[in-house]
Amino acid sequence: MVLIAPSILSANFSKLGEEIKAIDKAGADWIHIDIMDGHFVPNLTIGPKVISDIRKLSKKTFDVHLMINPCLNWIESFAESGADIITVHAESDDNTIDVLKKIKALGKKAGISIKPNTPEETLEPFLEHCDLVLVMTVEPGFGGQKFMANQLKKIQNIRSMINNMSRKIYLEVDGGINPETSILAVNSGANVLVAGNYIFSEGVNYYKNKILHLKNLT
Ligand code: DX5
Ligand code: ZN
Repeated sequence: MVLIAPSILSANFSKLGEEIKAIDKAGADWIHIDIMDGHFVPNLTIGPKVISDIRKLSKKTFDVHLMINPCLNWIESFAESGADIITVHAESDDNTIDVLKKIKALGKKAGISIKPNTPEETLEPFLEHCDLVLVMTVEPGFGGQKFMANQLKKIQNIRSMINNMSRKIYLEVDGGINPETSILAVNSGANVLVAGNYIFSEGVNYYKNKILHLKNLT
C-alpha cells in the first residue's frame, strides 16, 4: 500500500490550522512538514513552535523533513514539538549516525534524505540506523518544481538495498509528484509519496480527490 504525505509547504499559511484539519479529513496518511533554514536550502519556513501549535489539530503522523545545517542541536526541539518522524539530510555537516541515534533515543522514527546529486551508496552506513529513506526528486527548497526522472534508477537501487535489510524501512519520494510521476516512483519501489503543489494548488474542495487519485493510480 502506498502512503500519501501532503506537503504543507504548498498550503495557505495564513490559515494553517484550517489547512491541517482539512488535509487530515481529506485522508492524508502522513502530514509532511518542510523545515528550511535559508542556508542548507535557499528558502525559509517554520520552526518547532508552529509544529507544536498544529500538533493539537491532527493525530496523523507528522513527517518532519529537516533541510537545515547543522541539525544535531535542533533534534530535541523538533522531537518535543510533536514530530513522529524526523528526517535529516546526509549532506549536512553533523555526524549523521549521531543524529539518527539521537532521534531514535528520543523515541521518534528516524529518516535519512539525499539530494539529487548525492549517490545512493552514501546511504549504506546509515540504513541500519534509520526507519525511512527520503529521495529528493527535485533540488530541495521549493514546491512546484519538475520531477527529475533521472532519479528513478536511484530509487530502484535503494529499493534493492532496503529489501536486503532485515528491518522495515520506508522509501519516500519528495518533489514533483503528480498522477504521472507517482506511477514512475511507485514502480521504482517507493511506498510513501510526498505531494505539495499537486494536492494543494486547486483549493480545499480538491484535496480528497487528489489524495485518492494518487493512491488509486499507483
Ligand atoms: C521541497 C520540499 C518538498 C516540497 C514538494 O524542498 O522538500 O516537500 O514541498 O513540493 P511539490 O510536491 O510541489 O514538488
Ligand atoms: Zn520535503
